[in-house]
Amino acid sequence: MKIAIASDHAGYRLKIGVAQHLRSREVDYIDFGCYSEERVDYVDVAVKALESIAKGECDRAILVCGTGLGMGIVANKFKGIRATPCWDEYVTEMSRKHNNSNCLTLGGRVLPLDEAIHLVDIWLDTPFEGDRHEARLKKIAELEEKNFKIEEDRNELF
Ligand code: RB5
Repeated sequence: MKIAIASDHAGYRLKIGVAQHLRSREVDYIDFGCYSEERVDYVDVAVKALESIAKGECDRAILVCGTGLGMGIVANKFKGIRATPCWDEYVTEMSRKHNNSNCLTLGGRVLPLDEAIHLVDIWLDTPFEGDRHEARLKKIAELEEKNFKIEEDRNELF
């Protein structure tokens, strides 16, 4: 599994800590920026990471902004992305078990690094439960089909 990671300036430090943790776990990742604490729009960096999933280059994403909210909003505009802002153990566990989250969003201004790393581990290690949740995700996928206007070639990627 390859993880796309990205942050804006507000999430930069937390992302660097998360990246270090991924390396220590030998989890493969690509960092799509930003690469300093210089101000940048979270939308622009998120798009780069999410495009890599659309292209099949990465499998899941971890996106960090100040709150995790902006990144979550952007990510959920992408077909096939189930982005979940997570802030505690329970929510993170459920994001995998029930929602099959493929995009974890974290808040660099609201989470200390040790807590964020703990949530990353839960998110990486918790499997999707399937069953009744599968049917619910199918309904979401059907909504995407109905509501998302996407280019023909992008459609083939999912
Ligand atoms: C940047 O100031 C901040 O708005 C951004 O990091 C994020 O929290 C938006 O949702």
